[in-house]
Amino acid sequence: QARPGGPAAATASPAAPPAASSTLTVLYGSQTGNARRLAEKLAAQAESAGIAVRLLRADAYPTRELKDERQLYIVISTQGEGDPPDDALGLVEFIRGRRAPKLPALKFAVLGLGDSSYPQFCEIGRVLDERLAELGATRLFARGDADLDIDTVATPWLQQAVEEARALAAPGAPAHSATVTPLRPHPVAPAHDRDRPFHAELLAGHALSASSGLRSPQGRDVRHFEISLEGSGLRYEPGDALGLWPENPPLLVDEVLATLALDGEAPVSLSGEERPLREWLSTRRELTRLSRPFLAAHVERGGEASLGALLEPERREELAQLFDRLQVVDLLQRHPTRWDAGSLVAALRPMTPRLYSIASSQKQVGDEVHLTVAHVEYAFEERTRWGTASSFLSRAAEGDRLPVYIEPNERFRLPADASRDIIMVGPGTGVAPFRAFVQERAEVGASGRNWLFFGNPHFRTDFLYQLEWQRAIRDGHLHRIDLAFSRDQAHKVYVQQRIREQGRALYDWLENGAHFYVCGAIGMGKDVHAALLDVVAEHGGRSREDAEAYLAHLQQQGRYARDTY
Ligand code: 2AM
Repeated sequence: QARPGGPAAATASPAAPPAASSTLTVLYGSQTGNARRLAEKLAAQAESAGIAVRLLRADAYPTRELKDERQLYIVISTQGEGDPPDDALGLVEFIRGRRAPKLPALKFAVLGLGDSSYPQFCEIGRVLDERLAELGATRLFARGDADLDIDTVATPWLQQAVEEARALAAPGAPAHSATVTPLRPHPVAPAHDRDRPFHAELLAGHALSASSGLRSPQGRDVRHFEISLEGSGLRYEPGDALGLWPENPPLLVDEVLATLALDGEAPVSLSGEERPLREWLSTRRELTRLSRPFLAAHVERGGEASLGALLEPERREELAQLFDRLQVVDLLQRHPTRWDAGSLVAALRPMTPRLYSIASSQKQVGDEVHLTVAHVEYAFEERTRWGTASSFLSRAAEGDRLPVYIEPNERFRLPADASRDIIMVGPGTGVAPFRAFVQERAEVGASGRNWLFFGNPHFRTDFLYQLEWQRAIRDGHLHRIDLAFSRDQAHKVYVQQRIREQGRALYDWLENGAHFYVCGAIGMGKDVHAALLDVVAEHGGRSREDAEAYLAHLQQQGRYARDTY
């Protein structure tokens, strides 16, 4: 499967005519790669149906061309709290905005991706879909709102999209391939991807935080893992993520089986795949996160009717709270009802791979890939709860094989010009990609300076990779480090406070062409953004509006990138 390169290379074909009336434009906005993968699939299918396609990541799309567009498909995800993916911020703002053009000649359709356990499920897809119609464009067919079991909605949507495009390309006649612009030169597909993971050997794992293994409610247990990609042919760049297909904790699988009095060895067939129930529950189905469809099925099977009322649209918030508290096994135990093996497998949501920002540079570690993983394990109402992927990694022994692939993140890249300075903000496990950045810049002998902001609860126990940073400073590979240990004093201190304190210098770095990176929790990313706005306003003598424009410009130039989750 082909994948597009950076913003410029994301254009389907350099030779593709811009927005010719016969051309179908496919835009995607993607945070974790799902929307991108679907858009690529759509483009490839349309292309083989003889349709001229232009495939673009949303931030590579010149929005001024929208008014000349004739056929447009948008595939876009919604982030947790109803935000667009970072690569689509500009496009969404443009289409929503007052300056958006009337679009009477445009035919379009939208596929939204999201997670129905959030109240703002597929919000961005819905907003674009409604707004395009409001601007006078013709909706070719109904929007798809795909949940975590993406393909249930996406597969029929893609099919219809290709059919409609084919009908439009050559009304009443078969599409003629003479007008087709080749989508792109097809690079050799990687031997391993999401659907064909590489079974990689776990080389080593150890504690990074001194509180590892302790069950204190405050102590963060962060671990470092080293995995071998030898023989896979897989390559990655700093900024990329490792996709990992986890297995559910055996104890949890046992508990579900026992609760429902089901036999783990019973064979279950679903869409042509047959495997024992235990295997479905271990490797193919999510057991931690509840979903709307599962709750609906549970109620339908006679489980606690009052729960069904929570599925009403106006009770989304309450449902989200319920999902925060209860997991699948809790629901099954507290509100018992009968389940047979086949129905259970059909109703649970499919397992999804987990993405970890890679913490190493291949230039330094060769065939290895390193991860920085927060181990999630806590007691909740007398039951132990595990983070699916982190507990899977911790159970693995050295020498075990883990199903992995590389999920590229073209938006989170070191500057091509190694003489540029970089500023990295990575509290907690958000520091992972910056270990990769600093390794890479050391290996290539980058002349630009590296500045790291790091934060965590305690200096003594949570200073991740402390020795490595000290060595990097000594060797001239790390030029500044600012630390925010949040719980070492009476008042919380966060990285954004350090950013404000260092505002003058930080602004000078930016003015000097520095690239700015943020990795970690979404809420932290928003707070850091607010701090950055203050810095630019204060030290650049700008109004709020101008400061926002300044940051938007950095973002468009690829000089301000976020990897938040
Ligand atoms: P806390 O847990 O003490 O509140 C990594 O998780 C570090 O990020 C911790 O020190 C954590 O502090 C801190 N943190 C939590 N919320 C944050 C936010 N909104 N912005 C920045 N840092 C935050």
